[in-house]
Amino acid sequence: MRPLTSDVAWLPAFVYNHTEASELATHVAEAVTARGVARVAGFPGDANELVAFLAMVGPPLTYYGGDTGSHPDQAAVWRVRYEHEASLRGETHALEGPLAVHSSQSLLEPRPHYFCMLMVNPGWQDNERGFNGESLLAPWAEAFKALDEENPDYDDLLHTLMNPIPFPDGIARPLAYRLDDAYDDHDLGVRLKSGLLAYLRDSQPGTAALAATERFVDAARRTARTVQMAAGDLVVLDNDRWGHGRHSVIGRRRDAKARVHTNPRELWSLTLQ
Ligand SMILES: [Fe+2]
Repeated sequence: MRPLTSDVAWLPAFVYNHTEASELATHVAEAVTARGVARVAGFPGDANELVAFLAMVGPPLTYYGGDTGSHPDQAAVWRVRYEHEASLRGETHALEGPLAVHSSQSLLEPRPHYFCMLMVNPGWQDNERGFNGESLLAPWAEAFKALDEENPDYDDLLHTLMNPIPFPDGIARPLAYRLDDAYDDHDLGVRLKSGLLAYLRDSQPGTAALAATERFVDAARRTARTVQMAAGDLVVLDNDRWGHGRHSVIGRRRDAKARVHTNPRELWSLTLQ
């Protein structure tokens, strides 16, 4: 089985085939080791098949079990949809606005190795660019490289990012950490919690930790890549080396007869050890 020629060179792509699932899982794991990311097209919208396939890449975390967002068939699968009430409550993944790039399960130690997302329904794709829920994939090494090139004080900045920074659960952790199999100096692991920057702005104004995190988040935003996932696209990321996020989603809109429609976008995510 060979990777397809992807429409984007940095994203190795495969096509799902149930009868060759175990061979494909090996190829996906190899592609993620080599490139940090892989895409599988044509994956069925079946939570049991998704978990069975990804379990051949790594053991799924069942962290979401029992939570209201978990899939009824598989507690390891988190369903991300636009939900008006959840959006009004400010729940991060239910919001319409952009979702800045972040890590999966940023508080866990050891770091879960893979983050996976399956686009079940991409929802409305006829809004202007940046409002169709386009996915953001962020190679952290590119953010560190940009910061190194732009900042004469990069060594101090990196030192701050590699020292413990307060997290919202009250435990201080380094945002960036060395990887045993790093391929160069910019290849560092990152735990970027969604909302960490807002937390630091509130609780740590004027600190070096806040300034360094702001600079890192800005570099990650600038170096993130946009991918519009189609229905059946499964993306697997190295969760140490890549962040994920998305552009804005229009949650509800009215038709010509003033009837309100809710965006049917639905994405399933799960994290593997
Ligand atoms: Fe996420």
